[in-house]
Amino acid sequence: MAKRILVLNGPNLNMLGLREPETYGSDTLADIEAMCSSEGKNLGLSVDFRQSNLEGELVTWIQQARGNFDAIVINPAAYSHTSVAIHDALRIADMPVVEVHLTNIHARERFRHHSYVSAVAAGVICGLGPVGYKLALVALAERLSKAA
Ligand code: DQA
Repeated sequence: MAKRILVLNGPNLNMLGLREPETYGSDTLADIEAMCSSEGKNLGLSVDFRQSNLEGELVTWIQQARGNFDAIVINPAAYSHTSVAIHDALRIADMPVVEVHLTNIHARERFRHHSYVSAVAAGVICGLGPVGYKLALVALAERLSKAA
């Protein structure tokens, strides 16, 4: 059976394309979703791609991942830097998590340098733009095939 990957996106990522294109580029979230779904097909993964502006909704989706998904890719956006609730939910989820950021958070404002999610992630990809999502799927396909 295909391994199931939940791809989660946090607040304001629905505005990609319009949002500070000099920082985030011109791809929309729909473009990134299409890329993930095509890469998922190549890798034999089933990919469920979601976005929410609400911290609690992201927490609920992470809780529901148990038993329904094999791994999580998450761009927590601004919640990376603030959310103990998302950190705790990911810890409880008990499955590999890859944290993705479009931008290099370490080369930006100081308040972006710390992520509460990194401590519970198997790996972190940042600064590579949308291709970071694709790389996260490649890494998880490899990891899950070894675990199977
Ligand atoms: C981001 C980086 C965060 O600091 C920011 O709040 C975002 C997007 C990124 O993908 O580069 O919304 O997670």
